[in-house]
Amino acid sequence: MKKYRLAIIGLGRMASTIDQEVINYPPVKLPYSIASSCQEIDRIELVAGADVLLEKRAAFSNKWERDAVYQDYLEMIVQEEPDIVAICTKGELHAEMAVRVAESGVKMIYLEKAIACSMVEADSVLEVCQKNGVFLNTGALRRFDSRYQIAKACIDQGEIGDLQYGVHYAAASLLHGHIHAVDTLMYLMGDPQATRVRGDLRPSGLLIEENRLGSDPSATYQIVFENGVGATTIPAGNWDFEIFGTKGCIKSYNNGVNWQLQQKTQVTDRYTPFLNVDYSAPVHHSATIACLEDLVDAFETGRQTLGDITIAHHATEICLAVAESHQQGGGWIDLPLANRSLYIYHV
Ligand SMILES: NC(=O)c1ccc[n+]([C@@H]2O[C@H](COP(=O)([O-])OP(=O)(O)OC[C@H]3O[C@@H](n4cnc5c(N)ncnc54)[C@H](O)[C@@H]3O)[C@@H](O)[C@H]2O)c1
Repeated sequence: MKKYRLAIIGLGRMASTIDQEVINYPPVKLPYSIASSCQEIDRIELVAGADVLLEKRAAFSNKWERDAVYQDYLEMIVQEEPDIVAICTKGELHAEMAVRVAESGVKMIYLEKAIACSMVEADSVLEVCQKNGVFLNTGALRRFDSRYQIAKACIDQGEIGDLQYGVHYAAASLLHGHIHAVDTLMYLMGDPQATRVRGDLRPSGLLIEENRLGSDPSATYQIVFENGVGATTIPAGNWDFEIFGTKGCIKSYNNGVNWQLQQKTQVTDRYTPFLNVDYSAPVHHSATIACLEDLVDAFETGRQTLGDITIAHHATEICLAVAESHQQGGGWIDLPLANRSLYIYHV
């Protein structure tokens, strides 16, 4: 079996240490960090890491017993010749690093979400991946979580009928939080293309000066997809999702821990309520492992990754259109987004 060499840029929480934060936290199945997930994937070997901070390099080196640590990630790529690079720095560096890594010849990239702070940046990542034949997945991990995959299979099998509407419940920031929610809604509804988006940032009077926001705002939104299906978010709740169809709905509660399938049931000739039907607790595997495995499978077979760059690019465009809608007074924004230089900083 071919063993793929994986190197990480940015040796912080998602790269190395986040597992200890989610012990006794049922919504997340360990392993969670990239480094810890590599320990459980036979065909991936963690070989090196790069971080600008000496203490992060030292901690990573000690924890994972790897001597190959670098201050300069491009030097790491030249010296270590990784097959996969995981970019786990903060958001403002994602696009620039992805472009440089792709241009260096690396064919598999795990890029943390959101992939970019503007559509100019997102376009550059899309272009370089397509030009260089790069396979990419992002850290929008619910689509790799077995519980959401089982729900998606249930929807695909027609258990809730024809799709109508998706709802997400949680107060969340736009590019750190809602990029996950938008990606999950897209995934559960079959990754349709959005045609229109409207939304509001909070607080309501928030001013975007010179087409740039220096912090990631709270947001609410509505999305219209090409097939007439819609989606929205409610700024309260516990990362719950509901997908409605003509015959029923599927709901997740408590950040994916509890699930419910309901189907329209004829109780009287005039009354057809949604009633619970059997939906046994879905099995739960590590989403990070599934994400990295998907990247390698896609590379080996030539198929598209589950979180392909075109999907990540589109989810980013939806989120940035929310900010543009806010900037234009809350009206509908047609996609593709015309204002491609609108910049929202995120961590
Ligand atoms: N997918 C998920 O579930 C998930 C969970 C946590 C964090 N994240 C995302 O992961 C990303 C990183 O977040 P974090 O909390 O791990 O951050 P962190 O601050 O813990 O780690 C980032 C690291 O990047 C390093 N860095 C900065 N500039 C660098 C450069 N030029 N070259 C090399 N290293 C550099 C920093 O020194 C730091 O150690 C964020 O985008 C965040 O949204 C995703």
